[in-house]
Amino acid sequence: MSNQQARGKLIVFEGTDGTGKTTQRNLLGQYLQNQGYPVIITKEPTEGPYGMKIRDLYRHRNRYSREEELELFLADRRHHVTEILHPGLLDGKIILCDRYYFSTAAYQGALGLDPEAILALNDFAPEPDLVLLFQASLDIGLQRITAGRGETLNNFEQREFLEKVAAIFSTIKRPYIFNVDASGPIEDVHRLVVRYVMDLLQPAYTAAQD
Ligand code: TYD
Repeated sequence: MSNQQARGKLIVFEGTDGTGKTTQRNLLGQYLQNQGYPVIITKEPTEGPYGMKIRDLYRHRNRYSREEELELFLADRRHHVTEILHPGLLDGKIILCDRYYFSTAAYQGALGLDPEAILALNDFAPEPDLVLLFQASLDIGLQRITAGRGETLNNFEQREFLEKVAAIFSTIKRPYIFNVDASGPIEDVHRLVVRYVMDLLQPAYTAAQD
């Protein structure tokens, strides 16, 4: 066995707005901490300088072109990778990240940019070990966006946009992406999430439970 420090793990929560990603990320964080894992909880857009510009973008959507919007998310990610993700992985941490470059492919892709080209622009960012793609009805998500952000798009536009986002998410295939049915009660979804994550962290242990 090598005595080099093992690389940590990058676990990403993806999906359309309002599918409960953040709640599940936090519950998983608590669960893993209780088990003694060194956990970092993080998200994109970040709270850093570009993340703050992105929040400004939600308030004044028309001031940015889709190319500028893409650039902002990429700049925010570069900062995130340098400041949090690379150091955390080198330090053997289990990083739980709310949204990552699949969101850029899906959301900026839904604005008309090519999702595969967007993914290719992210080759500076470490590939995740596991992506949980949360899937639930768009109705719940729409209510939460309108209430939470006060965006000015009408319901039809929002629904149409999020349907495109969801469609692009489902076209991205990678061996480490798993769909999570997020329509059930929080505890049921949590159990599913724990199952996927423990398969990654302790495959021998979960196999023995079958
Ligand atoms: P969200 O996770 O809802 O953040 P918060 O809860 O802090 O507001 O993300 C905000 C929005 O950003 C969401 O609608 C998806 C969008 N987004 C992109 O369009 N591209 C990206 O690359 C990322 C990371 C997010």
